[in-house]
Amino acid sequence: MNDSFRIQGDKKVSKSYNIAVMPGDGTGPEVITEAVKVLKAAAEKFDFKVNLTDFDFGGERYKRTGETLPDSGVEELRQFDSILLGAIGHPDVAPGILEKGILLKARFELDQYINLRPVKLFPGVETPLKNKGPEDIDYVVVRENTGDAYTGAGGFTLKGTPNEVAVQSAVYNRFQVDRCLKYAFEYARKFGKKARGVGEENTLALCGKTNVLTFIYDLWERAFNEMGKKEYPDIRREYYHVDATCMWMVKNPEWFDVIVTGNMFGDIITDLGAITQGGMGIAAGGNINPEGVSMFEPIGGSAPKYTGQNVINPLAAICAAGMMLQTLGEEKAAEKIEEAVKFITANKLKSLAAGKMGYSTTEVGDLVAEIVAQ
Ligand code: IPM
Ligand code: MN
Repeated sequence: MNDSFRIQGDKKVSKSYNIAVMPGDGTGPEVITEAVKVLKAAAEKFDFKVNLTDFDFGGERYKRTGETLPDSGVEELRQFDSILLGAIGHPDVAPGILEKGILLKARFELDQYINLRPVKLFPGVETPLKNKGPEDIDYVVVRENTGDAYTGAGGFTLKGTPNEVAVQSAVYNRFQVDRCLKYAFEYARKFGKKARGVGEENTLALCGKTNVLTFIYDLWERAFNEMGKKEYPDIRREYYHVDATCMWMVKNPEWFDVIVTGNMFGDIITDLGAITQGGMGIAAGGNINPEGVSMFEPIGGSAPKYTGQNVINPLAAICAAGMMLQTLGEEKAAEKIEEAVKFITANKLKSLAAGKMGYSTTEVGDLVAEIVAQ
């Protein structure tokens, strides 16, 4: 009997997860190597098993074969318990091809309708926000991940003429809005500030633009209030326009607990959030289908200029692996990974920036893995 198959009484207690690993482009493979190192350390320590299968979707494969993420690839990915993604984006490939053909295709085809992006300042990490610390910058953005301007609805008329018109529609239906809100309310109930013992209430803020996008965000706001009143009276509801949200994320980030928003605003405000938590070296996200296959990624991109130098920060990928374990239900392992990351940001790393950490990519992975294994 091997270690990962223990019997207690007559009950099998250890679980086994099939993980698809897509290292992707640029520094993706380097950071994924470290995330996998930590994942394996966590599996060993917390008594579960990970079966990893590599996929080479990305810029190099596209250059070789003209293929992005084929339909057959989607069907293969569907068979896994989860997906760990490095980065998509290649300097030799025109912008949009790989992003749409791989990243967005996976999100859409696997119906990963939530993009969960924690904004959390770890101890010892420098933030550009004056006088703010880890207790102030600690919230989560629930970004809807299937609708809005991302659906590709639109087109040109009179293309190439002086009277050319381009239209790109933001699209939402009630079903998309409701399922996202439900996830956000549930998340706030389970992981909001009260639930975590750091506040008096669990709060969900809707970030919209009801003063201009009077159709889309009217739908969001009505759905938000209806669902909140009826099913989540215990959760405090707030509303912010997106422009004001940006302002308060800088001036008073401590006001936020869980924010829910549409796809496009979510894309924009989470880059702002990422820089307040120390930048792309640490920001992780999960593309989640609560009923299906989810995909976790560092949100920083492929950083081609640092490729192959062993200087890129792998913590975002490591945190993405942690989020993956949390979503799979290995909560203790996820907590331990976060603790280990906090320990090294507080006590080891000089900076989170590539080349300035005081350690190589590999060494950072080793440091985290060692702590996780303890
Ligand atoms: C992100 C990225 C993607 C997005 C791009 C690469 C298509 O910016 O994950 O936030 O817009 O969702
Ligand atoms: Mn983005």
